[in-house]
Amino acid sequence: MQMTKDTHQPSAKALSWTRYWRSGFQNTCFFADKAFSVESDWQAYFSTAATGTKIIDLATGNGAVAWIAAAVARDSNRDVAIVGVDFADINPGDVATVDAELLPRVTFVGSTDLAELPFSDAEFDFASSQFGFEYAQESAALLELKRVLKPGGKVRFLIHASEGAVHEASTQRLRRARLMLESGQIIPLLEELAKASSNGSAPRITKVQKRISAKVDLVGRKFKQLPADDLVFELCREAKMFVTAVGQVPAAELSARVRYLAEEVRAYTLRLNAMQQAARNAGQMQGMCQSADVLGFTLSNYEAYYVDNQQVGWIFLSQIP
Ligand SMILES: C[S@@+](CC[C@H](N)C(=O)[O-])C[C@H]1O[C@@H](n2cnc3c(N)ncnc32)[C@H](O)[C@@H]1O
Repeated sequence: MQMTKDTHQPSAKALSWTRYWRSGFQNTCFFADKAFSVESDWQAYFSTAATGTKIIDLATGNGAVAWIAAAVARDSNRDVAIVGVDFADINPGDVATVDAELLPRVTFVGSTDLAELPFSDAEFDFASSQFGFEYAQESAALLELKRVLKPGGKVRFLIHASEGAVHEASTQRLRRARLMLESGQIIPLLEELAKASSNGSAPRITKVQKRISAKVDLVGRKFKQLPADDLVFELCREAKMFVTAVGQVPAAELSARVRYLAEEVRAYTLRLNAMQQAARNAGQMQGMCQSADVLGFTLSNYEAYYVDNQQVGWIFLSQIP
């Protein structure tokens, strides 16, 4: 395995994912507003990996799927090497709550685009990806995957669908997050409050405090049907704290916290926007199968993937002849 890292500057997109994974999230499998598990299907896929084989998990994040592969290998007493790659600067061993026994079974390689894999030709027997492969440039990533897989190598991806409940939920989330950044909304109002607090202008501070309180009430009423953990409510809670913190907390501290919040919301919108762009419809899945077979894969096919009778994605299956 060549382990040379990409030395390009990380893009804003990659940084937005680095933020996400470093804050300790385990995966991105959510269905509307509840988490869903796809573990048993991954276990079935990895159960055919014999001792001596190598698995690559593409766009691995905090290694949700890589850890499943590691647990399957451990439980079946097989020596299987697992590598997780991602273009975010990941370090899942530090942040993920994982059984310590699994740590030595997985190698993570961050800051790596799927279109430029730092591995030798024909190194891997299995490839997996969960809501990840589709974020990369498709034909470049397929070509790289073809190169690093051995003859007979197998591929299984779970891919975002551009219809269905997950897509709809993320579209709504994105809309709300963008709204919070618009002029007159919570983030700009908090920025205004931080500025007024730095300038020490009491009438200005009071005026902005009132506007924020009114906005929080309005947002609370407008979105009252949403689950309590939605971003808009988190921002409302923060906004209320700011209103009372002015004068008690140093202005520089307030400004730093507002900057952090604004960056978090922007990173969130970048990730959701990337997810929207990555999502595929049936025609695009068909096109991906055709491209894969043209590029040297064989028997590429796809099917809708359901959880609780709702489509949460597509399964893409393929192999190297
Ligand atoms: C929705 S997350 C999925 C992560 C993980 N597979 C999971 O199920 O939790 C998408 C991941 O794709 C990664 N990603 C996006 N574009 C990429 C690219 N071009 N090359 C490598 N990784 C990429 C992101 O950094 C992010 O970690």
